[in-house]
Amino acid sequence: MDWRVKSLDDILATAEKKSLHRSLGAFQLTMLGIGAIIGTGIFVLTAAAAQKAGPGMMYSFIIAGFVCAVAALCYSELVAMAPVSGSAYTYTYAVMGELLAWTVGWALVLEYAVAAAAVCVGWSGYVMGLIQKATGFILPELLSRGPSWSMNGYMPVIDFSHGIVNVPAIVVALVITALLVKGTSESAKVNSILVAVKVTALSAFIVITLPLINGENFVPMLPNGWLGTQGSGVGVVGAAASIFFAYVGFDAVSTAAEETKDPQRNVPIGLIGSLGICTVFYMLVAAGVVGSVGAQPITSITGAVLSPDSAEFVTRCKELASAGSTPIVCSHEALAEVLSKLHYDQVSKLVGLAASIALPSVILMMIFGQTRIFFVMARDGLLPEKLADIHPKWKTPWLMTIVTGIFVAVAAAFFPVGQLADISNSGTLFAFFMVAIAVLILRKTDPNRTRPFKTPMVWVVAPVAAGGCLFLFFSLPTVAQLVLPIWGSVGLVIYFLYSRKHSHVGKAIAAQEAAKK
Ligand code: ALA
Repeated sequence: MDWRVKSLDDILATAEKKSLHRSLGAFQLTMLGIGAIIGTGIFVLTAAAAQKAGPGMMYSFIIAGFVCAVAALCYSELVAMAPVSGSAYTYTYAVMGELLAWTVGWALVLEYAVAAAAVCVGWSGYVMGLIQKATGFILPELLSRGPSWSMNGYMPVIDFSHGIVNVPAIVVALVITALLVKGTSESAKVNSILVAVKVTALSAFIVITLPLINGENFVPMLPNGWLGTQGSGVGVVGAAASIFFAYVGFDAVSTAAEETKDPQRNVPIGLIGSLGICTVFYMLVAAGVVGSVGAQPITSITGAVLSPDSAEFVTRCKELASAGSTPIVCSHEALAEVLSKLHYDQVSKLVGLAASIALPSVILMMIFGQTRIFFVMARDGLLPEKLADIHPKWKTPWLMTIVTGIFVAVAAAFFPVGQLADISNSGTLFAFFMVAIAVLILRKTDPNRTRPFKTPMVWVVAPVAAGGCLFLFFSLPTVAQLVLPIWGSVGLVIYFLYSRKHSHVGKAIAAQEAAKK
């Protein structure tokens, strides 16, 4: 079996032929990173993390942030060496060959498209909350949330009793898709404004909640322990695997590498800077949530631990609500709810408004990132080139964007936010793992290549990054762990039926061999 490596030199040569205007500096890149990072994770999934870990979610934020930090150091070395599009897919192609590159590209669909769906569902929760507060209108739950999914052994069980389809999430997915088809790509300026909106909302939250921290709210610190039970996804580590979603997006900085001035210097600054800034915000917000109103998980009447995506959990939340209690872990708009509980009603509405305005930019970044990765894969011949067709008037890869948008809308319609985030994490963790391995392999196989940014202590940092990704992957709920191999198998069938035959690298190798004969 040939591994069909596309050498880094070839990749750089392909990128050089295209002359994208290099206009972004370190500041804009950092903004781009923050724009892609801050979203549903902190605004919505904080509630699910609290249900999984209680106040111990503070540790979960630290663990997930640490794994992302070491992964970002690995990304930085590769991006600085080869500032080209395609992210982890491209690097794997250069180092480990086409087959593995295909599996990474295929897994990145989970990272980007499924993450976009998760953010659509998170947005739906905030917008519905805001509309209800402003006008009193409540969209029936059956139309504003998807069904619950669980596993009975290896069989999925779907429960429609609390929701059938998330209509607002479909609407936002399709509107963003339409914008992308028409070519309204996020300009750096608009992005900076939206980043300011998000950062202001989080800052207001921190300023209000931190002085109200009450030490009693941290007891018990670890109601579900560190590890929970295997496959349940609860406990500090399970919450870390889920809240990892909050940090995803920093790698989107690397997709802008071809449009960056002095990318060797600026991309590592953008990657590590945006991640660092968000980590500080997340720690403070998590402390504010736990310390001001408390974040203890709810249990079943018999005291059993409940997963935040289960139908039992939704039922229990409703029972508590009708008894007049609204624990923060039940909220679809966690940060706004904390402020309401503290009687900062106007600020709560403004935070809800900020989330409603700014979350769509994360959806846009994710769908945009997805189409770019598909685009590079199609350019390499691994996907039908027809998909990469550029619209004559709008100059966008319209067909690919529409296909992606429909996929996102369907996922957002029928899955709860926590499960979408977990599934997205499984794909992202796989991609990060491969990046960490690629850095190590390249140090051995190509030691003399110029490395404008070198991962410090690479023989410690990269194995820790790879190990951290594996650790978090195996801490995800079983369903999310199973999705990756199932999705990967579908991908392999497509690879062997279509992509392998159409690959440009494969065709070039075949032509060389024919010429030798
Ligand atoms: N990190 C992004 C979010 O939390 C994907 O929405």
